[in-house]
Amino acid sequence: MAQIDITHSPKRGRNREQNRGTDALSRLQETGRFALELEAVSRHFGALVALADINLAVRAGERRAVLGSNGAGKTTLFNAITGDFPPTTGRVRLFGEDVTTLPAYERIRRGLRRTYQISLLFNGLSVIDNIFLACRGVGRGRFSLLRPKKDDGAMEMAETLLHAVHLDDRRDTMVAELSYGQQRQLEIALALSGAPRLILFDEPAAGLSPTERTELVEILQALPEHIGFIIIEHDMDVALRVAESVTMMHNGRIFKEGTPEEIENDPEVQQLYLGQDYTAQDRTGGSRG
Ligand SMILES: Nc1ncnc2c1ncn2[C@@H]1O[C@H](COP(=O)(O)OP(=O)(O)OP(=O)(O)O)[C@@H](O)[C@H]1O
Ligand SMILES: [Mg+2]
Repeated sequence: MAQIDITHSPKRGRNREQNRGTDALSRLQETGRFALELEAVSRHFGALVALADINLAVRAGERRAVLGSNGAGKTTLFNAITGDFPPTTGRVRLFGEDVTTLPAYERIRRGLRRTYQISLLFNGLSVIDNIFLACRGVGRGRFSLLRPKKDDGAMEMAETLLHAVHLDDRRDTMVAELSYGQQRQLEIALALSGAPRLILFDEPAAGLSPTERTELVEILQALPEHIGFIIIEHDMDVALRVAESVTMMHNGRIFKEGTPEEIENDPEVQQLYLGQDYTAQDRTGGSRG
Protein backbone atom coordinates (compact mmCIF):
# COMPACT_ATOMS: atom_id res chain seq x y z
CA MET A 1 0.00 0.00 0.00
CA ALA A 2 1.28 3.51 -0.80
CA GLN A 3 2.52 5.71 2.02
CA ILE A 4 1.34 9.25 2.56
CA ASP A 5 4.10 11.17 0.80
CA ILE A 6 7.25 11.32 2.86
CA THR A 7 9.42 12.95 0.21
CA HIS A 8 10.07 15.97 2.37
CA SER A 9 10.38 14.06 5.61
CA PRO A 10 13.36 15.32 7.57
CA LYS A 11 15.28 12.77 9.64
CA ARG A 12 14.48 13.77 13.16
CA GLY A 13 12.87 12.57 16.35
CA ARG A 14 9.83 13.89 18.10
CA ASN A 15 11.98 16.14 20.26
CA ARG A 16 12.32 18.88 17.70
CA GLU A 17 14.50 21.10 19.89
CA GLN A 18 17.31 18.53 19.78
CA ASN A 19 17.63 19.21 16.08
CA ARG A 20 18.26 22.91 16.47
CA GLY A 21 21.78 23.22 15.06
CA THR A 22 23.80 26.28 15.90
CA ASP A 23 26.43 25.97 13.21
CA ALA A 24 26.76 28.43 10.35
CA LEU A 25 25.06 26.15 7.84
CA SER A 26 21.92 25.74 9.90
CA ARG A 27 21.82 29.48 10.47
CA LEU A 28 22.00 29.97 6.72
CA GLN A 29 19.17 27.49 6.30
CA GLU A 30 17.11 29.08 9.05
CA THR A 31 14.56 30.60 6.69
CA GLY A 32 14.00 27.29 4.94
CA ARG A 33 13.19 25.64 8.25
CA PHE A 34 9.99 27.61 8.60
CA ALA A 35 6.93 26.29 6.89
CA LEU A 36 5.25 29.64 7.24
CA GLU A 37 6.28 33.19 8.05
CA LEU A 38 3.90 36.11 8.21
CA GLU A 39 5.39 39.56 8.41
CA ALA A 40 3.18 42.50 9.43
CA VAL A 41 0.17 41.00 7.66
CA SER A 42 -3.06 42.95 7.75
CA ARG A 43 -6.37 42.52 5.95
CA HIS A 44 -9.01 45.18 5.65
CA PHE A 45 -12.60 44.79 4.44
CA GLY A 46 -13.54 48.40 3.75
CA ALA A 47 -13.25 50.14 7.10
CA LEU A 48 -13.14 46.85 9.01
CA VAL A 49 -9.68 45.68 10.09
CA ALA A 50 -10.04 41.88 10.15
CA LEU A 51 -6.29 41.30 10.59
CA ALA A 52 -3.86 43.81 12.03
CA ASP A 53 -0.06 43.52 11.98
CA ILE A 54 0.21 39.75 12.30
CA ASN A 55 3.72 38.37 12.77
CA LEU A 56 3.81 34.60 12.92
CA ALA A 57 6.40 31.90 12.30
CA VAL A 58 5.52 28.21 12.13
CA ARG A 59 8.34 25.67 11.90
CA ALA A 60 8.28 22.85 9.35
CA GLY A 61 6.33 19.98 10.86
CA GLU A 62 4.97 22.10 13.70
CA ARG A 63 1.40 21.57 14.90
CA ARG A 64 -0.22 24.76 16.05
CA ALA A 65 -3.68 25.65 17.27
CA VAL A 66 -5.27 29.03 16.61
CA LEU A 67 -7.86 29.98 19.18
CA GLY A 68 -10.06 33.02 19.48
CA SER A 69 -13.67 34.02 19.78
CA ASN A 70 -16.05 34.45 16.82
CA GLY A 71 -14.89 37.20 14.49
CA ALA A 72 -11.35 37.24 15.93
CA GLY A 73 -9.90 36.92 12.41
CA LYS A 74 -8.94 33.23 12.38
CA THR A 75 -10.46 32.30 9.02
CA THR A 76 -9.22 35.57 7.54
CA LEU A 77 -5.75 34.55 8.67
CA PHE A 78 -6.14 31.29 6.74
CA ASN A 79 -7.39 33.19 3.69
CA ALA A 80 -4.30 35.41 3.80
CA ILE A 81 -2.05 32.34 4.00
CA THR A 82 -3.75 30.49 1.14
CA GLY A 83 -4.26 33.52 -1.07
CA ASP A 84 -8.07 33.17 -1.11
CA PHE A 85 -8.09 36.77 0.17
CA PRO A 86 -4.60 38.23 -0.17
CA PRO A 87 -3.37 40.49 2.63
CA THR A 88 -3.90 44.23 2.31
CA THR A 89 -0.34 44.76 3.54
CA GLY A 90 2.53 42.55 4.71
CA ARG A 91 4.39 39.50 3.41
CA VAL A 92 3.63 35.77 3.42
CA ARG A 93 6.48 33.25 3.06
CA LEU A 94 5.98 29.53 2.54
CA PHE A 95 8.98 27.28 3.11
CA GLY A 96 11.24 30.30 2.80
CA GLU A 97 9.71 31.58 -0.43
CA ASP A 98 7.76 34.83 -0.67
CA VAL A 99 4.33 33.85 -2.02
CA THR A 100 2.49 37.08 -1.17
CA THR A 101 1.48 37.71 -4.75
CA LEU A 102 1.11 34.10 -5.89
CA PRO A 103 -2.36 32.67 -6.59
CA ALA A 104 -3.79 29.90 -4.38
CA TYR A 105 -2.95 27.08 -6.83
CA GLU A 106 0.73 28.03 -6.78
CA ARG A 107 0.68 27.72 -2.99
CA ILE A 108 -0.98 24.31 -3.27
CA ARG A 109 1.87 23.25 -5.56
CA ARG A 110 4.27 24.17 -2.78
CA GLY A 111 2.56 21.81 -0.34
CA LEU A 112 -0.09 24.03 1.26
CA ARG A 113 -3.58 22.57 1.84
CA ARG A 114 -6.67 23.66 3.71
CA THR A 115 -10.07 22.51 4.80
CA TYR A 116 -13.00 24.89 5.07
CA GLN A 117 -15.46 25.70 7.85
CA ILE A 118 -18.21 24.59 5.42
CA SER A 119 -18.10 21.18 3.70
CA LEU A 120 -16.93 21.22 0.07
CA LEU A 121 -17.45 17.69 -1.24
CA PHE A 122 -18.99 15.98 -4.28
CA ASN A 123 -22.17 14.64 -2.67
CA GLY A 124 -23.20 12.51 -5.64
CA LEU A 125 -19.90 10.58 -5.73
CA SER A 126 -18.59 7.81 -3.53
CA VAL A 127 -15.99 8.36 -0.82
CA ILE A 128 -13.21 6.69 -2.82
CA ASP A 129 -14.09 8.68 -5.95
CA ASN A 130 -13.86 11.95 -4.02
CA ILE A 131 -10.43 11.03 -2.72
CA PHE A 132 -9.32 9.69 -6.09
CA LEU A 133 -10.28 12.94 -7.82
CA ALA A 134 -8.30 14.93 -5.26
CA CYS A 135 -5.26 12.69 -5.80
CA ARG A 136 -5.63 12.89 -9.56
CA GLY A 137 -6.13 16.65 -9.35
CA VAL A 138 -2.72 17.29 -7.80
CA GLY A 139 -0.82 14.87 -10.02
CA ARG A 140 0.12 14.53 -13.66
CA GLY A 141 -2.71 13.46 -15.97
CA ARG A 142 -5.27 15.42 -14.01
CA PHE A 143 -7.23 16.20 -17.17
CA SER A 144 -7.50 12.55 -18.19
CA LEU A 145 -11.09 11.32 -18.49
CA LEU A 146 -10.06 7.66 -18.62
CA ARG A 147 -11.16 5.29 -15.85
CA PRO A 148 -8.23 4.57 -13.53
CA LYS A 149 -6.41 1.24 -13.93
CA LYS A 150 -5.92 -1.02 -10.92
CA ASP A 151 -2.30 0.04 -10.51
CA ASP A 152 -3.01 3.74 -11.02
CA GLY A 153 -0.78 5.67 -8.59
CA ALA A 154 -3.54 8.11 -7.72
CA MET A 155 -5.90 5.23 -6.91
CA GLU A 156 -3.28 3.60 -4.72
CA MET A 157 -2.79 6.88 -2.87
CA ALA A 158 -6.57 7.25 -2.54
CA GLU A 159 -6.82 3.84 -0.84
CA THR A 160 -4.04 4.81 1.58
CA LEU A 161 -5.75 8.07 2.48
CA LEU A 162 -9.08 6.28 2.90
CA HIS A 163 -7.41 4.18 5.57
CA ALA A 164 -5.61 7.16 7.15
CA VAL A 165 -8.93 8.86 7.88
CA HIS A 166 -10.64 5.68 9.18
CA LEU A 167 -13.17 5.42 6.34
CA ASP A 168 -12.26 1.93 5.01
CA ASP A 169 -15.77 0.61 5.66
CA ARG A 170 -17.33 3.58 3.85
CA ARG A 171 -15.22 3.23 0.70
CA ASP A 172 -18.10 2.95 -1.79
CA THR A 173 -20.72 4.93 0.13
CA MET A 174 -22.11 8.05 -1.51
CA VAL A 175 -20.93 11.17 0.29
CA ALA A 176 -24.53 12.30 0.82
CA GLU A 177 -25.08 9.18 2.93
CA LEU A 178 -22.14 9.77 5.26
CA SER A 179 -22.61 11.14 8.75
CA TYR A 180 -21.46 14.70 9.25
CA GLY A 181 -18.41 13.49 11.15
CA GLN A 182 -17.46 11.10 8.35
CA GLN A 183 -17.74 13.95 5.85
CA ARG A 184 -15.24 15.93 7.89
CA GLN A 185 -12.92 12.92 7.96
CA LEU A 186 -13.21 12.74 4.18
CA GLU A 187 -12.23 16.39 3.93
CA ILE A 188 -9.05 15.58 5.79
CA ALA A 189 -8.29 12.85 3.24
CA LEU A 190 -8.70 15.40 0.44
CA ALA A 191 -6.31 17.78 2.20
CA LEU A 192 -3.76 14.95 2.42
CA SER A 193 -3.73 14.29 -1.32
CA GLY A 194 -0.47 14.87 -3.17
CA ALA A 195 2.46 15.92 -1.02
CA PRO A 196 1.15 18.24 1.67
CA ARG A 197 3.66 19.91 3.97
CA LEU A 198 1.40 22.37 5.79
CA ILE A 199 -2.35 21.92 6.23
CA LEU A 200 -4.75 24.52 7.56
CA PHE A 201 -7.76 22.97 9.30
CA ASP A 202 -10.64 25.37 9.88
CA GLU A 203 -12.69 24.05 12.81
CA PRO A 204 -12.65 20.36 11.83
CA ALA A 205 -14.32 19.38 15.11
CA ALA A 206 -17.27 21.78 14.81
CA GLY A 207 -20.55 19.87 15.01
CA LEU A 208 -18.92 16.52 15.85
CA SER A 209 -20.12 14.16 18.57
CA PRO A 210 -17.71 13.32 21.44
CA THR A 211 -16.91 9.96 19.78
CA GLU A 212 -16.24 11.65 16.43
CA ARG A 213 -14.00 14.19 18.17
CA THR A 214 -11.93 11.41 19.67
CA GLU A 215 -11.58 9.84 16.23
CA LEU A 216 -10.54 13.20 14.75
CA VAL A 217 -7.84 13.61 17.39
CA GLU A 218 -6.54 10.11 16.60
CA ILE A 219 -6.44 10.86 12.88
CA LEU A 220 -4.56 14.14 13.39
CA GLN A 221 -2.13 12.66 15.88
CA ALA A 222 -1.30 9.83 13.46
CA LEU A 223 -0.34 12.12 10.56
CA PRO A 224 3.29 11.73 9.39
CA GLU A 225 5.66 13.95 11.35
CA HIS A 226 6.80 16.07 8.45
CA ILE A 227 3.25 17.29 7.81
CA GLY A 228 2.74 20.40 9.89
CA PHE A 229 -0.66 21.88 10.49
CA ILE A 230 -2.49 24.84 11.91
CA ILE A 231 -5.86 24.02 13.39
CA ILE A 232 -8.53 26.57 14.21
CA GLU A 233 -10.52 25.08 17.01
CA HIS A 234 -13.04 26.24 19.58
CA ASP A 235 -12.92 22.92 21.39
CA MET A 236 -9.98 23.32 23.77
CA ASP A 237 -9.86 19.61 24.41
CA VAL A 238 -9.19 18.90 20.73
CA ALA A 239 -6.84 21.87 20.24
CA LEU A 240 -4.68 21.20 23.25
CA ARG A 241 -4.38 17.49 22.51
CA VAL A 242 -3.18 17.84 18.93
CA ALA A 243 -1.13 21.05 19.11
CA GLU A 244 2.34 21.69 20.48
CA SER A 245 1.95 25.47 20.27
CA VAL A 246 -0.98 27.83 20.50
CA THR A 247 -1.72 31.26 19.05
CA MET A 248 -4.61 33.16 20.61
CA MET A 249 -6.26 35.82 18.46
CA HIS A 250 -8.45 38.69 19.56
CA ASN A 251 -9.86 41.51 17.44
CA GLY A 252 -7.68 40.68 14.44
CA ARG A 253 -4.46 40.63 16.46
CA ILE A 254 -2.29 38.00 18.09
CA PHE A 255 -3.11 38.21 21.77
CA LYS A 256 -0.91 35.42 23.17
CA GLU A 257 1.40 32.67 22.01
CA GLY A 258 2.68 29.75 24.03
CA THR A 259 2.58 26.06 24.74
CA PRO A 260 -0.85 24.52 25.37
CA GLU A 261 -0.05 24.48 29.11
CA GLU A 262 0.96 28.15 29.15
CA ILE A 263 -2.18 29.17 27.30
CA GLU A 264 -4.42 26.97 29.39
CA ASN A 265 -3.08 28.44 32.62
CA ASP A 266 -2.86 32.07 31.50
CA PRO A 267 -5.24 34.18 33.62
CA GLU A 268 -5.82 36.72 30.82
CA VAL A 269 -6.71 33.95 28.39
CA GLN A 270 -9.06 32.38 30.90
CA GLN A 271 -10.74 35.70 31.51
CA LEU A 272 -11.02 36.72 27.88
CA TYR A 273 -11.78 33.51 26.08
CA LEU A 274 -12.64 30.71 28.38
CA GLY A 275 -14.82 32.50 30.89
CA GLN A 276 -13.82 33.23 34.44
CA ASP A 277 -15.15 29.95 35.81
CA TYR A 278 -12.94 27.94 33.50
CA THR A 279 -10.83 25.23 35.14
CA ALA A 280 -8.47 22.69 33.66
CA GLN A 281 -10.85 19.93 34.80
CA ASP A 282 -13.71 21.47 32.89
CA ARG A 283 -12.39 22.04 29.44
CA THR A 284 -14.78 20.32 27.11
CA GLY A 285 -15.56 23.76 25.63
CA GLY A 286 -17.95 22.76 22.87
CA SER A 287 -18.07 24.42 19.48
CA ARG A 288 -19.08 28.01 19.26
CA GLY A 289 -18.31 28.22 15.53
N1 LIG B 1 -15.29 38.55 2.94
C1 LIG B 1 -15.51 39.38 3.96
N2 LIG B 1 -16.09 40.58 3.78
C2 LIG B 1 -16.29 41.43 4.80
N3 LIG B 1 -15.97 41.16 6.07
C3 LIG B 1 -15.40 39.98 6.33
C4 LIG B 1 -15.14 39.02 5.30
N4 LIG B 1 -14.56 37.93 5.87
C5 LIG B 1 -14.47 38.19 7.17
N5 LIG B 1 -14.97 39.40 7.47
C6 LIG B 1 -15.02 40.03 8.78
O1 LIG B 1 -13.73 39.92 9.36
C7 LIG B 1 -13.81 39.65 10.75
C8 LIG B 1 -13.06 38.37 11.04
O2 LIG B 1 -13.80 37.29 10.45
P1 LIG B 1 -13.26 35.80 10.44
O3 LIG B 1 -14.20 35.02 9.59
O4 LIG B 1 -11.83 35.78 10.07
O5 LIG B 1 -13.42 35.40 11.98
P2 LIG B 1 -13.20 34.01 12.70
O6 LIG B 1 -12.22 34.25 13.80
O7 LIG B 1 -12.89 32.96 11.70
O8 LIG B 1 -14.65 33.77 13.35
P3 LIG B 1 -15.51 32.41 13.54
O9 LIG B 1 -14.99 31.80 14.81
O10 LIG B 1 -16.90 32.90 13.69
O11 LIG B 1 -15.33 31.55 12.34
C9 LIG B 1 -15.30 39.56 11.08
O12 LIG B 1 -15.70 40.82 11.59
C10 LIG B 1 -15.94 39.28 9.74
O13 LIG B 1 -17.25 39.78 9.70
MG1 LIG C 1 -13.84 31.27 11.07
